[in-house]
Amino acid sequence: MRKIPIVLLPPNNYYLRYHMNVFIYSIHGFDKPFLAQAAGNNHKLGFTEEALTIHNVNLCRGYDALALFSNDDASAPVLDAIYAQGIRWIALRSVGYDHIDLKHAKALGIKVANVPEYSPYAIAEHGVGMLLMHIRKLYESQLLLQLQDFRLDTLVGFDLHGKTIGIIGTGKIGFAFAKIMSGFGCKLLAYDPVENPEADAIGMNYTDLDNLLGESDVISINCPLNDHTHYMIDTPQLALMKPGAILMNTARGAIVNTKAMISALESGHLGGACLDVYEKEKGWFFYDHRNTILKDEMYARLRNFKNVLITGHQAFLTREALEGIAQTTMDNLSDWEKSGKSKNDLI
Ligand code: NAI
Repeated sequence: MRKIPIVLLPPNNYYLRYHMNVFIYSIHGFDKPFLAQAAGNNHKLGFTEEALTIHNVNLCRGYDALALFSNDDASAPVLDAIYAQGIRWIALRSVGYDHIDLKHAKALGIKVANVPEYSPYAIAEHGVGMLLMHIRKLYESQLLLQLQDFRLDTLVGFDLHGKTIGIIGTGKIGFAFAKIMSGFGCKLLAYDPVENPEADAIGMNYTDLDNLLGESDVISINCPLNDHTHYMIDTPQLALMKPGAILMNTARGAIVNTKAMISALESGHLGGACLDVYEKEKGWFFYDHRNTILKDEMYARLRNFKNVLITGHQAFLTREALEGIAQTTMDNLSDWEKSGKSKNDLI
């Protein structure tokens, strides 16, 4: 009988080496599997659930790169500290980059890239969901139903059809939101220094900020947080809004002066708010604080309004968005490894 030679094959990934050692701060149950899947055999990952602060920079010692989330602190002193640990690359797992001091990173020679696009529909659709829940009083209706109180007297809402929606920032998310609202039969007003070339196709008209605030029944904030947009919505802007208007913020908390918004809600001038982000969310959102006494008067006050709906920065939380974030993050790292450049470099 002929002997069949036995060939021992190495494991599948034997010939592959890990390209970059990447340390991931603020990893959570919701994004871990997507990041691991996207890294495959291309990068070796280390991680912690902790957000990056000046107090835990030692965790990334020995790694080449960091993958950071929107609640990580990448201010100048933290960048100095991680540079000293050997980090030369930072892949942001977010569109926004208001949490990193880009100028300082550049001065240190740390490369930074973001994920400029990942399912804008995730955020736009979450905004629509919040708006409908708010104006059709769906949360209250569920509470009443649980009590077997089937009266409708406190549940009167209003049609979106025919209402004016003002969109501040008509990039990927703002425009996706605008398209959905155009399907509802709304009039669309927009404010953005850079006009979206597809605006005409959906009947969206650009105007100045003051006019948008005065004309809109619902105002949605969809621009980035930066020096120009910090407290863009403050007391004077709130005063310009139509009495009873609804303010939506799915972008970044500090675009709105929360104290001023609370005063406008107290006076009744502002009809309601749908907020996925909060000015002081850092350190609170994304973590379990069930056993902590929350010492934040402003948040407590906001939670007490019946006409304020808050979600904990979850607008991006769809499978499609998480896949997109993980893949682009890992692609940015692979590009750096191959050529020192990625198409999403911020500096
Ligand atoms: P984008 O870059 O496609 O669009 C931003 C738009 O804002 C641009 O058209 C820009 O010209 C405009 N803009 C800049 N400065 C402005 C100003 N002063 N006034 C009015 N408009 C201005 O960004 P994208 O993808 O639409 O994201 C927008 C923001 O949404 C991000 O910067 C991020 O902060 C936030 N975001 C929130 C998420 C969440 O889960 N809640 C998830 C992803 C993004």
